[in-house]
Formats: sequence, C-alpha cells, structure tokens
Amino acid sequence: MNKFIRHIIFFLGIFLCLGFVIVKNKALLFEYPEYWPKPEYNFSKLSMTEEEFQLGRHLFYDPLLSRDNTISCASCHLQATGFTHVDHDLSHGIEGRIGTRNSISIMNLAWNTSFMWDGGVNHLEVQALAPIISENEMDESLANIVEKLKNSKKYKSLFYKVHQDSLVTGQKTLLALTQFVVMLNSYNSKYDQYIRNELGGEFTEQEKNGLTIFRNNCASCHKEPLFTSKNFKNNGLSVDSTLNDFGRMIVTRKHQDSLKFKVPTLRNIQFTQPYMHDGRFETLQEVINHYTSGVQHSATLANELKEPIILTHKEKVDLLVFLRTLTDKKFLYNKRFSYPRETTSN
Ligand code: HEC
Ligand code: HEC
Repeated sequence: MNKFIRHIIFFLGIFLCLGFVIVKNKALLFEYPEYWPKPEYNFSKLSMTEEEFQLGRHLFYDPLLSRDNTISCASCHLQATGFTHVDHDLSHGIEGRIGTRNSISIMNLAWNTSFMWDGGVNHLEVQALAPIISENEMDESLANIVEKLKNSKKYKSLFYKVHQDSLVTGQKTLLALTQFVVMLNSYNSKYDQYIRNELGGEFTEQEKNGLTIFRNNCASCHKEPLFTSKNFKNNGLSVDSTLNDFGRMIVTRKHQDSLKFKVPTLRNIQFTQPYMHDGRFETLQEVINHYTSGVQHSATLANELKEPIILTHKEKVDLLVFLRTLTDKKFLYNKRFSYPRETTSN
C-alpha cells in the first residue's frame, strides 16, 4: 500500500476514536514451546488483541454473568488451583445449587478438540454458554447479560476499545470470553524446564524414577507434553449410584461409550483436588491407589488398564513426586490472568 494512504488511514483512525486514543489495537501473540504440537483451535475467528483479552478477563471475573449477580466464571474456576474449584467435589452455582460434576481445570484449551468431561461441547466459542444457561450454575440468558452489559459504562468503554463501537452483542461477549480462556496456557513447570534443559529444571533421582513409572503406566492416556490423549476412556471408576453419570455415552448414545470420560490434563494436578469427574478422590495418593488396586472391570474398561498396575510403596511415592513437577507457579500466579484490579475508564 502507498505510504501516504497508509498514513491517512492511520490518522483517520486516531481522529475517529474520540479523545485521540490510538485505535490500533495491540496484537496478542499466542506463544507455546517448540516441542508442543500445533494447536487445534482455529484462531481466524478471534481478533487476538490485548483489548479483547482484557474484556474477556473482566467478563470472566464478573458475577454479572449470573442471574442474581453472585457467581462468576472464576467462582468455579480459581486461578491458584489451575482454574478449578478446589475442595468442592460437585460444582456450586447460584443459590447454593449443586451440579452433577466436578469443575474441570482450564488450561491449554487451544489443544482441545472437545470440552467438558463427556466432550458434550466441541466449540470453545459456545462453551461459555453452557454454564451461563445451566440452572445449577449461572441460570442466566445471554440476552439478559447483553442488557446488563449495555447498562454498564465500564463495559461500553471496554467493548469500544475492542470493536471501535460500543454495541454489545452476545456473540462479542462469548468471543471475548474465549479470547481470555484460550490464552490460559501453562508450560513453565519444572517438567518443562527439565525437557528444555533449563537451569533449575534438573530432576532428582526420585523425580526421574517417577517419570519412568509414569511413562510406563500412565502416559499412554495422559500423553506428554499436554498430559492428555484428548480422547475418552473408562479408567475403571465404579459408578456412583446417585449421580448415575455414564459420561461420553450421554453425548453419543452408544453403549460402547458407557463410563468413558475425557482424559484430563495432569498439569498443575498438585492443586486441582478433588479428582475425577465427580471429585471422588481427595488426594493424589488415593488416585494412585485407585490405579493399583481399585480399577473396576467392565465391558468398556480401557485396554491399558486391563492388566493390573503393580507398584511398590516407594514407586508410588516416586510417581507422586513426579506429578508435583507438573506444577507451574508462573501460570498459577500470573498477574495477567488474575482478577482485574486496575480501574478502567468509568
Ligand atoms: C457453578 C460452577 C461453574 C461456573 C459458574 C462455570 N463453570 Fe466452567 N465448568 C464447571 C464444570 C462442573 C465443568 C465440567 C462440566 C461437565 O463436564 O459437564 C466446567 C467446564 C468448563 C470448561 C471446559 C474445560 C475442558 O477442558 O473441557 C470451560 C472452558 C469452562 N468451564 C469455562 C467456564 C466459563 C468461561 C465460565 C463463565 C461463563 C464458567 N466456566 C462458569 C463449573 C463451572
Ligand atoms: C486408560 C487411560 C488412562 C490411564 C492408563 C491412566 N489414566 Fe488417569 N485418567 C483417565 C481418565 C479417563 C480420567 C478421568 C476419569 C473420570 O473422571 O471419570 C483420569 C483421571 C486422572 C486423574 C484425575 C484428574 C482430575 O483432573 O481430576 C489423575 C490424577 C490421573 N488420572 C492420574 C493417572 C496416573 C498417575 C496414571 C498412571 C498410574 C493414570 N492416570 C493412568 C485415563 C487414564
């Protein structure tokens, strides 16, 4: 493009944006380590700007998204615990209503092809709608949220910064939430430093031994480097007779999917307790004991777990010590992802 025309467009942009704020939005880089596979998410729909990320961040932390303005996304997805709800086996929504599943951690979502424990949602942009309209979670409608946002000076200004107009729509709201959650990437654990041969990433003998045990028994499903194979498996949990949750079968209606659940990532697993889709295990020791002595045989049990996993007490401890190397404090305490304290205009 002719340099002169480019200048005109640039200045026009500045003048259009009243108050002489520069309109050119800051582009966001989506970064991840070289040894990771390419993300699955199609980024063409997102504008990938700092402004949209900040809008999404405000929305994520705002209880305005629920019918009685008490529950935000962050109520069930707390940063310091890997964006899950620690200490709650089943999720708690508005008016203390209890859901049927344990909140799942949110991280590295761009590598996911399906969401929720049963994969019931396959597009990240519509995922946020599920908790919003769920009676047991936020019990709100998108149309109502749009009305509330339209009445807020703060949001009018935040939407303006992203779109250069303050028209609030449901689609823009969902996209902004997507923009925020898709940036929640965790790749700076001690394990990553070890793989990258970085200073501070040296593994002890115990951690190395734990990694070997992990690779021999767990990594077929919790596949490195994302620690998930992205598919659905029955890992031998007994059926909870009150919840009667058959997992993937609810979505596909196929018997061969009975009791299969999404293989969750194990990143930051040290802090995401309780564990499993219904939060039945409080500790990682209990989880490891499940794999060595609690696996229930049934028609859909994963092949990988048909033979018993035998581990000595020392091996169990080593495995546990290895799992702790997946903790990424830089992610859990990254201020960019935390509650937005800074005041915005108005
Ligand atoms: C009342 C608690 C609660 C609230 C509020 C809530 N969530 Fe969740 N979230 C959950 C539970 C429980 C699951 C797992 C649901 C399932 O498997 O059926 C989940 C799943 C997810 C997932 C899927 C992650 C994956 O890897 O599959 C994402 C993303 C997510 N929530 C984002 C959000 C956003 C964005 C909001 C706000 C609009 C929100 N959540 C509000 C409890 C909650
Ligand atoms: C056959 C595949 C498979 C193998 C092998 C496997 N897992 Fe899992 N793992 C799963 C599935 C599926 C879930 C989720 C099950 C559910 O919630 O119903 C899970 C859940 C977990 C959880 C809970 C995660 C959370 O966010 O709640 C931990 C921890 C875990 N596995 C650790 C391990 C360890 C350690 C090993 C090796 C001893 C192992 N897994 C082997 C499939 C597997």
